[in-house]
Amino acid sequence: MLRARPSGRHNGDPMSHPSDGFTGIVHPEVQAYLGTLVSEEDPLVARMETYAAERGFPLIGRQSGQWLAQLTIMIGGRRVFELGSGWGYSAFFFARAVGPGGQVIGSEKDAWEIEAYQRLFAEHPLAPRIDIRQGGAFEVLAATEGDFDVVFCDIDKQGYPRALEEGVARLRPGGLFVADNVLWGGKTARPAAPDDASTRALQAFNESFFAHPGLDALILPVGDGLAVGRKR
Ligand SMILES: C[S@@+](CC[C@H](N)C(=O)[O-])C[C@H]1O[C@@H](n2cnc3c(N)ncnc32)[C@H](O)[C@@H]1O
Repeated sequence: MLRARPSGRHNGDPMSHPSDGFTGIVHPEVQAYLGTLVSEEDPLVARMETYAAERGFPLIGRQSGQWLAQLTIMIGGRRVFELGSGWGYSAFFFARAVGPGGQVIGSEKDAWEIEAYQRLFAEHPLAPRIDIRQGGAFEVLAATEGDFDVVFCDIDKQGYPRALEEGVARLRPGGLFVADNVLWGGKTARPAAPDDASTRALQAFNESFFAHPGLDALILPVGDGLAVGRKR
């Protein structure tokens, strides 16, 4: 069954995005067209989008979420770590992709967001695959054993350069390091104001990401820009 997306803040795809950037990376007409091609989504996705819109909470957005799932499936990913989980929107797409017995370990500094996750996912069949742990993303990562097929970064932007180093170190060869917001509403494409620490951090991240000797790196211009690096 085909349908158009529910309308949201960004051309039908509510997502994380700086308020003074472009209104969308993709032309609105193309974005709307893409929305008509996507199959029916789990009702939980629309519920989470409504919950986000009511609170002005930045989500990764539906198309980016679907890319997270597709990329994970393409590498046979079974174990995912998220830096910055909020109340589980991006985790939902990973949880679908890892399959039965797969594991999505998330990290979130705010207790109320984990409580919201527990309410939103109560009784949902994907909930047993998701474990969002409260704390700083780097502390939770350090306290979690083992390697991952995918490490996903969506924390405060000044943490991205550190996330690249610590995240890639925890990937198995062939695994993916993925980061959201790397185009930052188009702001990373322009000189950053000296006091714009987030844009400067993202620009530094993008340069280190492409120069990383252990990664094959590319940016997908979907949503607010998804960096996707495959560990060699
Ligand atoms: C942009 S939101 C996105 C959440 C989720 N990935 C999604 O798409 O719905 C980022 C979340 O990361 C959390 N966060 C930011 N920096 C963090 C850090 N250093 N450690 C843990 N959580 C962090 C914020 O509280 C927020 O809930």
